[in-house]
Amino acid sequence: MARKFFVGGNFKLNPVSREQKKAIVKVLNEAELDDAVEVVIAPPSIYLLSLLELVRPSIKISAQNCYSKSSGAFTGEISAAQLVDAGVPYVILGHSERRTLFHETSEIVAEKTKAAVDAGLSVILCVGESLAEREAGVTAKVVESQLEPVIKLLNEKDWSNIVIAYEPVWAIGTGKVASPAQAQETHHDIRAYLSKAVSQDVAESTRIIYGGSVSAKNCKELATLPDVDGFLVGGASLKPEFVDIINSKKVA
Ligand code: 13P
Repeated sequence: MARKFFVGGNFKLNPVSREQKKAIVKVLNEAELDDAVEVVIAPPSIYLLSLLELVRPSIKISAQNCYSKSSGAFTGEISAAQLVDAGVPYVILGHSERRTLFHETSEIVAEKTKAAVDAGLSVILCVGESLAEREAGVTAKVVESQLEPVIKLLNEKDWSNIVIAYEPVWAIGTGKVASPAQAQETHHDIRAYLSKAVSQDVAESTRIIYGGSVSAKNCKELATLPDVDGFLVGGASLKPEFVDIINSKKVA
């Protein structure tokens, strides 16, 4: 089964003004985009509703996080049910910034993933190793240990609503992109693990996208790799070059 190429823009805690937000939307709305690509942008939650209105309908909107409970006394949280009710189809979960700065364990990420899928959201599930872990040669082990609790909670059919984002921590925001060989090897390992731990069908149909210093310069080569099904873009998703990344599969 062909996997539709997927390009996500994770705005993180940006833009910092409504003016900047409008400028980003203008670029995306006026650009010529490859319509064979699924494009999703993830603004801060305060901009989710306005972007749903402002951005062209072919671009989907994602939250950057949600909680595992659907309602109640959880100050500061947003639930998957609320996102669905608001018309938001995607959520990013397990980003390394949430794992490290906000102490989310793989078990917490798994609970959130299950709650999100059960509520009707699609999930961009992030995994990735630190520099020390890569240098110690344990990348595959680390990524598997992040996926294992999710695999335990999800049913096989739930996987049709999951996109895995492989984001090596050492490549995020550093300008140090994974080499094509490193990206392909880890994506291939993740697919092999899915095949063993879930099913061959899920391994073949699940999109595994790469994130970490993706730019207009390096995206074309990464996009040709057999197990790279797209990108999750941070810094460059705020700039006009995001359009080139979306169009990375297009022959010039
Ligand atoms: P950068 O593209 O800024 O390295 O960020 C990647 C990322 O964390 C996307 O989720």
